[in-house]
Amino acid sequence: MDTVKRTKIKDLLASEPGKTVRAKGWVRTKRGNKQVKFIALNDGSTINNIQIVADATLFDEELLKRVTTGASLNVLGELVPSIGSGQAVEIQAKEIEIYGDCDPMRFPLQKKDTSLEYLRSVAHMRLRTNTFGAVLRIRHAMAFAIHKFFNDKGFVYLNTPLITESDAEGAGDMFQVTTLDLKNIQLDKKGNVDFSRDFFGKKTSLTVSGQLEGELGATAVGEIYTFGPTFRAENSNTPRHLAEFWMIEPEMAFYDINDDMELAEEFVKYLVQYALDNCMDDLQFLNDKYDDGLIERLRSVLGISFERVTYTRAVEILEEAIANGKQFEFPVHWGTDFQSEHERYLVEQYFKKPVILIDFPKDIKAFYMKQNEDGRTVRGMDVLFPKIGEIIGGSEREASLEKLEQRIDELGMSRKNLEWYIDTRRYGTVPHSGFGLGFERLLLFVTGMANIRDVIPFPRTPKNAEF
Ligand code: 4AD
Ligand code: MG
Repeated sequence: MDTVKRTKIKDLLASEPGKTVRAKGWVRTKRGNKQVKFIALNDGSTINNIQIVADATLFDEELLKRVTTGASLNVLGELVPSIGSGQAVEIQAKEIEIYGDCDPMRFPLQKKDTSLEYLRSVAHMRLRTNTFGAVLRIRHAMAFAIHKFFNDKGFVYLNTPLITESDAEGAGDMFQVTTLDLKNIQLDKKGNVDFSRDFFGKKTSLTVSGQLEGELGATAVGEIYTFGPTFRAENSNTPRHLAEFWMIEPEMAFYDINDDMELAEEFVKYLVQYALDNCMDDLQFLNDKYDDGLIERLRSVLGISFERVTYTRAVEILEEAIANGKQFEFPVHWGTDFQSEHERYLVEQYFKKPVILIDFPKDIKAFYMKQNEDGRTVRGMDVLFPKIGEIIGGSEREASLEKLEQRIDELGMSRKNLEWYIDTRRYGTVPHSGFGLGFERLLLFVTGMANIRDVIPFPRTPKNAEF
């Protein structure tokens, strides 16, 4: 009997009854009476628990007392048809071993407070809850689907560096990487920090985007994507920003902005479809617990085409809305960057579907975007989603050496530090495009969670980097 190997609960629940099985997991709940105990056991393989039925006459009373919420068990028993548990099968226990007790008075995951705010304060334990189990499984499924999508299209997965000298987005919100002794900084003659003494001999930071290196890959092997951690030291404590997040950045030679938009739309629809096809148990749980419009909203983006709108037209729409009494916290006029309230108005109230904004004023976008003929806009695109706002940012890239250099100069950036990048335009330049999808923004949409801290296992936000 001892040789019966463990089967995961997901597989047990799909098995035919009539055999001896072993389940291992953590107790979710225990109920019953003097004669019989019903234990809901979960091992993380599925949102669903398996019911363990323990006949009290077969077990030591002390042992059954120790079966508390959170305790970990090794159970051997007979898989039998279930009458009442809501599942087809349950386990009639023959042997119960307690791997680890769980003191009900001290266990941080009590029934009394399961709010997401509270769970963030016990983030090291929250992964054991149904909610975070569901989120983690969906997160994994989406990561797998991302690799599958690009692999099936022949894209090459390119690993770009996390430590870099360049500031791709020109935003300046970077985390510095240094081995200099902060208590004893050497200054040069001008009073600046002497980075020649630093580990890399230069000032370095954590990357805000792998795009520039991605372009080197795309202009060599045609189509690449990156999928890795990304760091931004912007001090914005919002439900949509993390200091450490994951970004997927495809970059494609010979794609213009229209090809770029088509790929972005196909990509997110593929991911949503994949979630609906493969994560229904978890989606249903999140739908029932937090957001009863979730599954409906996921289905709603599949059947329709995303609306393509120029920035200039969007400004008109927002100005009309304001003229008709709509109030926004932040002002709008041609040349301003939209706030998420503006993005959400366009998506949720005006178009009532995902929107792709194009042709932005060049002054609110990065130096590498292809300049339009009008001299004042660039061929950028932002994909906006309901409840979230921007989920993707991308563009066709400036392929002309002359225009790129001129823009770098205009912005007062250093050409010297970018020579390696500019070489792509010097030697066999090609039209090319790409975009970045924020992985956690995608997960906000797919899980229906409202706060980005709840879709990453270990969130990093201002003043928060514990474990
Ligand atoms: O629009 P962004 O800044 O674009 C880029 O970084 C380009 N280099 C992408 C490219 O063309 N290859 O960022 C892309 C996406 C955003 O649309 C958003 O989804 C996500 O990254 N993002 C963040 N997600 C979480 N926390 C933050 N602080 C984020 N900043 C950007
Ligand atoms: Mg952006």
